[in-house]
This record gives sequence, structure tokens and C-alpha cells, in this order.
Amino acid sequence: MVDQRAVVTAGTGGIGLETAKGLAARGFAVTVVGRDPGRGARAVERIGAVATGGEPRFLAADLASLDQVRALAATLAAEGPLDLLVNNVGAMFPEPTRTADGIEATFAVNHLSPYLLTELLLEQLRAAAPSRIVNVSSAAIGLAKRVFDQVEPPGGYYGFHWYGRAKLANLAWTLDLAERLRGTGVAVFAADPGGAATAMTDGTMNDPRIVSPGLRLLWPLVRRKFERSTAGPAAEAARPSLAAATDPGLDGRTGLLIGPGAEPVPAYRGSTDPRTVADVLRLSRALAPLEGAVHGTRPSSGRDPQDRA
Ligand SMILES: NC(=O)c1ccc[n+]([C@@H]2O[C@H](COP(=O)([O-])OP(=O)(O)OC[C@H]3O[C@@H](n4cnc5c(N)ncnc54)[C@H](OP(=O)(O)O)[C@@H]3O)[C@@H](O)[C@H]2O)c1
Repeated sequence: MVDQRAVVTAGTGGIGLETAKGLAARGFAVTVVGRDPGRGARAVERIGAVATGGEPRFLAADLASLDQVRALAATLAAEGPLDLLVNNVGAMFPEPTRTADGIEATFAVNHLSPYLLTELLLEQLRAAAPSRIVNVSSAAIGLAKRVFDQVEPPGGYYGFHWYGRAKLANLAWTLDLAERLRGTGVAVFAADPGGAATAMTDGTMNDPRIVSPGLRLLWPLVRRKFERSTAGPAAEAARPSLAAATDPGLDGRTGLLIGPGAEPVPAYRGSTDPRTVADVLRLSRALAPLEGAVHGTRPSSGRDPQDRA
């Protein structure tokens, strides 16, 4: 039997590495993507130690660069059908940051990069159907400003809020994509890891500049909440992604958010708001054009019955 092929972005450390290990232990031939070849080599060794199927490997790409996302997609597309794509990459920036493309980095890394990689690989995912797409989300969506008429929201820069807004954009596109691909055999899930002590949370969550001035007044409380929610092991936080990727109980289902308990939970408020969806799609298409990309057959509905929040 041919090994099932899986790709995990930002799979050389943190939650992504644990996700990659879990997939390799379940028999997937896993490709992990990251920037640093040394970390990549060490990750491949650790994944290989638990693999029960095909050999793991590392591909280098800085997913903050849309050109590198396109190059990665081209490499993966040339290899044929893809059974599983886990868009795990995410980042929060204490200071306003721009990518080499000149795009606000939070939006680029957390939303545009997974958007572009996935849309460019739809043909390969459809060829492997039944296949799955998993996009890693965050409860930070709860603090997101729901304004998407431009890349950067009005008001000051607060890293945690902008991160939540980029994750909201990503979830809105994720649920819309699930509708678009309904009936094709490509299931689309979002996974909320809860929290974990990782490179992303180490240090950044101690910096009061990441929240708005209103929340800064409550900083000792907010900081304690952040500390508690990001204290756990990455292996635990990988459970929702692994469930979204492999749980047979999800066979035939799509368009679900898998919560920190590794079970479906209601999508966050606003993620299926038709205006949010339309604005996010417009921004995404403008910033990361999809010339030549293959699209699903069904028009999106912009509606999700589980959005009860
Ligand atoms: N940790 C939490 O508490 C938490 C909570 C909610 C949601 N999440 C979400 O969970 C996902 C994983 O988070 P994490 O905490 O495990 O993150 P992390 O510790 O920052 O992840 C480390 C991995 O990300 C890779 N990476 C970072 N920036 C990259 C880039 N520009 N291009 C390619 N690879 C990049 C690193 O590889 P290199 O350094 O080699 O590039 C490494 O493989 C993210 O989507 C995050 O938003 C995390």
C-alpha cells in the first residue's frame, strides 16, 4: 500500500512537531516545513523515531514570504496527490512588522500563507480524496476586531488582538472553503490547540504591549490568564489537530472547528458572518492572487449551522 502523504507547516518545533510525530506514528509519510535546516534535520530525526510508515522529510520555506509559499506549493504539487495538509504556521509580533512583500506580518503569516498554500494545492488534495485540510486556529479570535475592509484594522497596533483578527480571517476562509469543497471528498477543519509553552508563547505573552490599553489596566489578571493557558505541553495542544486530521468519527463531515478537547465545538462568533467572509476573500485574492489555481465546484454558502456563539 502507498503511504498517505501529509504536510505540516511549521512542523519542526512546538505544536507542529508534535502533530507531525502523531501523524508519523499513524503511518503518514510526513513532510515538515520550517525556515531553519538544522531544526528541520533534528525534527526529521525525532519524527523518524516514531514513524510507522514512510520516511519523514524537511522542506525549507519562510512562510512569511508569498513567493516562498508559491515555490513550496509548486514542489509539493509536482509530487502528485496529497492526503493531508496541516496549516499549523502561526506567529504573533509584539511590534508592528512587515514581511518582505510589504504586508503586515501577522495577517501574512497566520492567514495569507495558509490560504495561498492550500488554494494552490487543491487539485492535489482533490486527487487524493478522501483527504483533509486542517487549519490551526486560536481562542485569541475572541479579542479580534471584525473589520476586514483593509489589511490593517483601524486603531493602534496590539499584537495579540491583531493575531486574533488574522486567525478570524483564517477561520472565516476555512469554513467558506469547507462549503466550497462539500461533496468533493476534501474535508476542511479548523483546530484550536488551546495553549502550550512553545517558542511562540515564550516571552511574548509577558509583554503588556500585546494587548490594548484597556486590557493593560488589568494586566496582572490578563498575564495570569495567559500564563495559565500557555503552560501545558505541546503534545497535548497537538491533540485537536491530530483529531481533525485523523479521527474516523469525522469521516464524511466538514466545516467544523475542533476545540482544545479534540471534539467539535461551535465556531467563534463572526466567523461565518457573510460580510466578514466576503471581505476576507476579497483581501486574500487581492494580496495573494491565484492565477492558475483549481477551485472547488460548489459556490460557498457563507452559512454554518454550528455558529451558535
Ligand atoms: N502555543 C500556543 O499557546 C497557541 C495557542 C493557540 C494557537 N496556537 C497556534 O498553534 C500553531 C503552532 O503554534 P506554536 O506555539 O507551536 O508555534 P511556534 O512555537 O512558533 O512554532 C515553531 C515552528 O514554527 C516554525 N515557523 C515559525 N515561523 C515560520 C515561518 N515564517 N515560516 C516557516 N516556519 C515558521 C518554526 O520553524 P523555524 O523556526 O525553523 O522557521 C517551528 O517549526 C500556530 O498556528 C499558533 O498560532 C498556539
